[in-house]
Amino acid sequence: MIEFKNVSKKYDGAPVHALKDINLTIDKGEFVFVVGSSGAGKSTFLKLMMREEVPSTGSIVVDDIDLTKIKKRDIPKFRRRLGIVFQDFRLIPNMTVFDNVAFAMRVIGTKEKKIRRRVPYVLSLMGLNEKARNYPKELSGGEQQRVALARALANNAEIIIADEPTGNVDPQMSYEIVDLLMRLNEAGTTVIMVTHEHSLVRCFDKRVIILDKGSVVSDGGALIREAATSHINPASEISNEYIVPPEEDYSAYAEYEQELQQEAETVEVAVNVEDDIIMSEGGVN
Ligand SMILES: Nc1ncnc2c1ncn2[C@@H]1O[C@H](COP(=O)(O)OP(=O)(O)O)[C@@H](O)[C@H]1O
Ligand SMILES: [Mg+2]
Repeated sequence: MIEFKNVSKKYDGAPVHALKDINLTIDKGEFVFVVGSSGAGKSTFLKLMMREEVPSTGSIVVDDIDLTKIKKRDIPKFRRRLGIVFQDFRLIPNMTVFDNVAFAMRVIGTKEKKIRRRVPYVLSLMGLNEKARNYPKELSGGEQQRVALARALANNAEIIIADEPTGNVDPQMSYEIVDLLMRLNEAGTTVIMVTHEHSLVRCFDKRVIILDKGSVVSDGGALIREAATSHINPASEISNEYIVPPEEDYSAYAEYEQELQQEAETVEVAVNVEDDIIMSEGGVN
């Protein structure tokens, strides 16, 4: 469980607060979208959660650890519980896909024998088996982000923290990345994902925290909230954008979902046809 209590953050020298009086709880196993316009405080929210920044006031507790009281030497151990994914992937360019993932395990002293078992497994979860020997620059943006996800998974993270992971990939790949995150979430991982793509948020009915100028202006299930707020004036134009996203944006994902469905059906048909052939061949012999 992650608990923010009266958390405010003002960076040194900054004229205004990056976050103002945040009070919320994220339960173990939740999937949470955090949305808001640029400068709303989204990255600060995540940085506080991973103890990359400390709040100016208030407290943040992750499970049994009070992040405002944690000793410096205990921070690396705490971070091992997190899988962190960034918009710009942050892969190491002169390492292969395999080694990029393995590196995350090597830095915490994992035995090579375990690395050789675990890396192919997480790569296969991300559909990247074929790319193990490639270098990041040989991959598409979406593939690079999947490597970053595999790396985040390598050490069995309990919490995945993703800061605009779909910011540099096309809409189809965005959908796939969120879909992968959803599946990890179904397997028990807590996922906190920052995005400004309202169409993505709309696609998946999950909790959405909307930040605006450092404050939480809305917090709840996307569809439920949309129904509840459709008849009233939105708190601000910014948050409204997330509540009722433009239809054309959404349709791109809907179409893609349909495509995936058709693809799955085609594969099924192909398998059935193959079965028939095998059976009839068997009959001839
Ligand atoms: N290291 C920093 N020093 C000073 N101000 C910062 C720093 N990081 C972020 N800010 C300011 O804090 C506010 C929130 O930033 P950020 O959390 O990065 O927002 P978002 O991720 O939603 O775009 C912005 O006004 C930003 O300029
Ligand atoms: Mg940001």
